[in-house]
Amino acid sequence: MRLRKKPWVDEAIHEFGALVLSKDNPPSEKQKGNWCREIFGREAELCVELGTGKGGFLSQLAERCPDKNFIGIELEQDVLYSAAKKVWEKEIGNVRLLVFDIHDIEEIFAPGEIQCFYLNFCDPWPKARHAKRRLTHISFLEKYRRLLGSGGKLFFKTDNRPLFDFSLEQFKEAGLIIADISYDLHAEVRSNNIMTEYERKFSGVGEKINYCEVLFS
Ligand SMILES: C[S@@+](CC[C@H](N)C(=O)[O-])C[C@H]1O[C@@H](n2cnc3c(N)ncnc32)[C@H](O)[C@@H]1O
Repeated sequence: MRLRKKPWVDEAIHEFGALVLSKDNPPSEKQKGNWCREIFGREAELCVELGTGKGGFLSQLAERCPDKNFIGIELEQDVLYSAAKKVWEKEIGNVRLLVFDIHDIEEIFAPGEIQCFYLNFCDPWPKARHAKRRLTHISFLEKYRRLLGSGGKLFFKTDNRPLFDFSLEQFKEAGLIIADISYDLHAEVRSNNIMTEYERKFSGVGEKINYCEVLFS
């Protein structure tokens, strides 16, 4: 049994009000197709980060792009608490955070509702028998494809080269187009890169960061 590290989070997460859809108040079918109008109160491009973690990336991106709406999805409420604290303290209005399993993402978003996905340092699931759990497996790509509108994109970063190579094969199998790629992102001049918590950790110990931008249509 996995021991909970922060049992107080279940109460404390409610401090953030409508910013977080928590375990007690999970997103449901009723939000489907209505995220921009009803949750953000404005029509704008909707971008979703898959596996947001502690939210450093999403909070900076949302500040940089005030004209877009951002949603961060994270399985672990304890981890999402840190993301919520960052967004709350900086008073960033164009972000919502969901405790939710990406596996079920089609239950809460309507086809074509999302314009882009960000997927940063997802779990590599190194054993071959777990390949279907990788968030770049073709079964996930097909879900993302159904949710993305025309011109939909996925931005993907990982330090894990075997996962990156596997993902490139999956993108090809799904007929997607690689618009941009780097096998060593930090060796290039990319002034617009926003580092995630894991990116800081892995690049700090000398790991190369792989990056690609994938077009769905
Ligand atoms: C390795 S961490 C990376 C966190 C962050 N993106 C970063 O780069 O610092 C992967 C995160 O994805 C979350 N995650 C893994 N599988 C998930 C799923 N099926 N649904 C939602 N979140 C998931 C994990 O809980 C974890 O916080």
